[in-house]
Amino acid sequence: MSSLTDAVRVGIVVVAAGSGTRLARDEPKAFVELNGATILEHALRGVFASATPAQVVVVAPASHLGQARAIAEHAAGAASGYVDVVAGGETRQESVSRGLAVLADGVEVVLVHDAARALTPSALIDRVVAAVDASGAGVIPAMPVSDTVKRVEVDRVVETVDRSELVQVQTPQGFPRADLVTSYASAADDHTDDAALVQAAGFAVSVVPGEPQAFKITTPWDLRRAQQLLDRGAQARTGIGIDAHRYDDAVPLWLGGVFFPDEPGLAGHSDGDAVIHAICDALLSAAGLGDIGGRFGSADPRYAGAASSVFLRETLRLVDGAGLRVMNIAVQVVANRPRLSTRRSEIETHLGELVQAPVSVAATTADGLGFSGRGEGLVAIATALLAD
Ligand code: CTP
Ligand code: MG
Repeated sequence: MSSLTDAVRVGIVVVAAGSGTRLARDEPKAFVELNGATILEHALRGVFASATPAQVVVVAPASHLGQARAIAEHAAGAASGYVDVVAGGETRQESVSRGLAVLADGVEVVLVHDAARALTPSALIDRVVAAVDASGAGVIPAMPVSDTVKRVEVDRVVETVDRSELVQVQTPQGFPRADLVTSYASAADDHTDDAALVQAAGFAVSVVPGEPQAFKITTPWDLRRAQQLLDRGAQARTGIGIDAHRYDDAVPLWLGGVFFPDEPGLAGHSDGDAVIHAICDALLSAAGLGDIGGRFGSADPRYAGAASSVFLRETLRLVDGAGLRVMNIAVQVVANRPRLSTRRSEIETHLGELVQAPVSVAATTADGLGFSGRGEGLVAIATALLAD
């Protein structure tokens, strides 16, 4: 242990010694890869990003001490003098107690944290430390229960439980060191969290708001959720959409939401506005929300003859609901007619106002080739860039 640790008053015990039975992978759960780094490394990045200087004790499987040490030192960077790695035990409680055994003398407040809560924001660590300091007692992060909760006997529903009295709890759980050490020394039963053990010893515990990202990776589904959250956080998303329509002399031409008098229109469901349809598909594609056919089926009578701006507004609502915003959209029209050059800025302004982001429109002909070149119809190709 480094003498540096004598100077800090907070200790964080990160338990990572479980096998991860429910995740069902070959390696112990903390060593499973999540978007290019192990679950343990992700958890430690959050811990070391905290504003609280702390001694960090990683409790790892005896078989993985070397790997745990390398991961911990890498995640700690300049703070590596503050890291200790020890072997865990058969149960989580045993693993925590082995971590407590190596706390430095100066530590007064101890947080116990599951490595399996890999995406825990560092702000939650600081919140728990501040609340332990303010209350002088145990503090745990809690989330409201949003589903209705029932008590059951086998498959028979006995009653509905009042969920307003219930919370789901997370880690890190923080305690005055003396409370936690006394509680562990006297623990008679195996408890599923540290707060239960501390309460069994007669000490008070209160809650602070938890964080959705502090969920525990337990099952393969949880791991996928963590992967998706990381993917989304790290990346902008592009999408592509293409729409083609045949000319039809019997209908008016709407393109990019703008009316063109004295031009053949475009056949198709709704008003045939291929530019807007391609934009909708590009937006849905970027958001991973399918496509315009799947969202606004041609069988749906609500959309027969509808102005395409209706689709665009609804698509923008879906994109917004997915937590994404539009950065920009680019459209290319491939057609002999209409001539777009004189109306281009009008279309760009109109669509830009609808989308609330820059929309650029360009046009070309197909050099006489294919249906567009022969003047049978028009193609619009759109790309969209979205970001979190
Ligand atoms: N843990 C530990 N030592 C144990 C058991 C669990 O350090 N003997 C740790 C895990 O590594 C994890 C945290 O406690 O970070 C929460 O436990 P859990 O999610 O149940 O992990 P596992 O026990 O590994 O998973 P499972 O119960 O599916 O086997
Ligand atoms: Mg377990």
